[in-house]
Amino acid sequence: MKLKTVLLLFLIVLFNQVIGQNNSSSIERAKALLSKMTLEEKVGQMTQLTIEMVSKGVGNDIIKPHAIDTAKLRNVIVNLGVGSILNVSGYTYTVSHWKEVITSIEKYSKKSRLKIPVLYGIDAIHGANYTVGSTLYPQQIGLAATFNPELSYKMAQYVANDVRGSGIPWNFSPVLDVGRNPMWPRFWETFGEDPYLVSQMGVTMVNGYQNTNNGKVRPFAACLKHYVGYSNPQSGHDRAPAYIPERQLREIYLLPFAKAIDAGAKTIMINSSEINGEPVHASKFLLQTILRNELNFKGITVTDWEDIKNLTTRHKVAETYKEAVALSINAGIDLAMVPLDLEFTQYLIENVKEGKVKLDRIDEATLRILNLKFELGLFEEVKTKTPRFIEPEQIESKKLSYELASQSITLLKNQFNSLPLASNERILVTGPNADYINALNGGWTHTWQGRDTSYNPMVLTVANALQNVFGKSQVTYLKGNSYNQILSSNELLNAAQNVGTVVLCLGEDTYTEKPGDINDLELEQAQQNLIKIYKEAGKKVIVVFLEGRPRTFAKTEPFCDAILYAYLPGNEGALAIADILIGKVNPSGKLPFTFPRFAGTHTTYDCKYTETLNNDFKPIGFNSLFPFGYGLSYTQFDYTDLVIDNKNPLTTDTITVSLKISNKGEMDGYETALLYISDEYASITPSIKRLRAFKKVYLKAGESKNVSIKLAISDLAFVGLDNKFMVEPGKFVINIGNLNDAIIVK
Ligand code: BGC
Repeated sequence: MKLKTVLLLFLIVLFNQVIGQNNSSSIERAKALLSKMTLEEKVGQMTQLTIEMVSKGVGNDIIKPHAIDTAKLRNVIVNLGVGSILNVSGYTYTVSHWKEVITSIEKYSKKSRLKIPVLYGIDAIHGANYTVGSTLYPQQIGLAATFNPELSYKMAQYVANDVRGSGIPWNFSPVLDVGRNPMWPRFWETFGEDPYLVSQMGVTMVNGYQNTNNGKVRPFAACLKHYVGYSNPQSGHDRAPAYIPERQLREIYLLPFAKAIDAGAKTIMINSSEINGEPVHASKFLLQTILRNELNFKGITVTDWEDIKNLTTRHKVAETYKEAVALSINAGIDLAMVPLDLEFTQYLIENVKEGKVKLDRIDEATLRILNLKFELGLFEEVKTKTPRFIEPEQIESKKLSYELASQSITLLKNQFNSLPLASNERILVTGPNADYINALNGGWTHTWQGRDTSYNPMVLTVANALQNVFGKSQVTYLKGNSYNQILSSNELLNAAQNVGTVVLCLGEDTYTEKPGDINDLELEQAQQNLIKIYKEAGKKVIVVFLEGRPRTFAKTEPFCDAILYAYLPGNEGALAIADILIGKVNPSGKLPFTFPRFAGTHTTYDCKYTETLNNDFKPIGFNSLFPFGYGLSYTQFDYTDLVIDNKNPLTTDTITVSLKISNKGEMDGYETALLYISDEYASITPSIKRLRAFKKVYLKAGESKNVSIKLAISDLAFVGLDNKFMVEPGKFVINIGNLNDAIIVK
């Protein structure tokens, strides 16, 4: 190990130890501090502003390079006592600029009467994506496709170090929305459609962010978002209404939040939208009855961007901003991501003075915020000389990013073993995403929409990576195709004259949130035509999708010889794709969502039986293009010897399911065993199947391994008529791979 690495590790350990001592007295210290505070100071703590509010220039005229405006900063921190700041003003900072920003904020917080440090928060959702030089990893949808929580745990640890190394103790991650609607432009920010998988990955990320490897608490807070029911708007558009019955809300959407709260998540961000006509920011039922009383959440609730004001401007449930302030704070909001005005603070003070918000509510919220600041060591940090600003260390994390990408990329089709390609294959690579770094990363990459590539000069595109791996002389790159317009057939075919194989990199441009809304899930015809043109010309057509949501293309799918689904694989993704195409890496990703066959009819894999019937009510099975959990390999895995240790368990028992998995092919590889359960008959119509466990194993060619999985019978529960989880005795089929067996629960 190089001296620099050793020193860095030492500093990180020291830093974690000095700052990360989670002293149990944090709440006592917070109480003592609270008792000295004025109403104005408390309300200041409940206010979060964007960095733009203390920067030179405003909005689109924000000055570049970014500079703090000390007059604004003094007013905001010293006079108004603002407790939290977030984000960047439109681009990514170097560690040294972060140092300037964080230390000047600190300087003014020390000038305030009670010297309360400011809590800085950021969206570092796939790496420290607002710190120059940090490693960028696959987006969450790709992490889910790895079915490998251990790797994601490691990633969360690296990200926490990089973000904390920029002086920031709070990450607005992970997203625990369950991605049930592929139209939704934040689909790729999720861990996919299955509540069990989302829960497992969510807990992993929280642990990775908040704990160090040696089990100590890290001075870093995760933020679960967006509580709750954001991800399935009826129209598929961002921040549009969802209609979710309480039963589904509990069984699908609340579950991952409940699990991550149990894992100790310190903060939670609220869904910008509305459920059943009630904006979540105004819902006492969701913010108090469920979140506090049932889920026992002790941390802070933060609004999403401007969402208190939105109660009046968008949702129309309050006539004035001031009323909206009272409504949301009374509903249970602790910290307001205001983030662009100073009126919130004023209105909240007035509401308290007029008796519209009780002082107790203010005290409760402020206490939680102060407690978090103590837990994160922010008070100590100001006094100590702990190393806080650390340049991201890249070598190991880049390797990890590559490994995550290679384990996520999913082989959806491989007709006549079209892949891997021979190393002497002559290839044409084209399509809108062939030479486009942004398509590897998606949104939240250096900027909100991820459209600025100037930070990634060294990153390989798929075209570059193919040239590196197969040799420049064998790989031709053809430019000129956009998402909805392609070159003439002549130009396309001329370029392919001397090649047998065409690699088409298709999919989407980058987006997140509202700018990513679409009105049709179908992949643009122009891109589908590319596939047809080359197939009809007799080429071997390999399609590589770089996209955040499955765009339907069922009629064109038969023209593809092979399909590789790469999600948004991060900066190392292109190399991973090339290594899979040449067979250096054996693909092992599995779809964390159902790939719909039709744009107009979409059901998730855990649908009800009646969704699997045709026009004559005859069972035709689940009709997707590729189901949840699907993913091929270059080798062949056989599943045998299924044994269930107790076939008549009680509802309180845990059973062990064992089986043997054998690699019968010629290539080493990973395989993920997915354990599903099907409840045969139940008082609430049962899902056809539900994932209840998974295990990823590595098997050398010819090797066999015994796998055993524990299954608590309580995990067979569903939410019953009374909206409570229950296990109903009866027959359950357990399915892994092609193996099935049944148990009778007593
Ligand atoms: C997004 C959140 C994000 C926040 C702060 C909002 O627009 O919905 O996911 O954390 O902005 O950047």
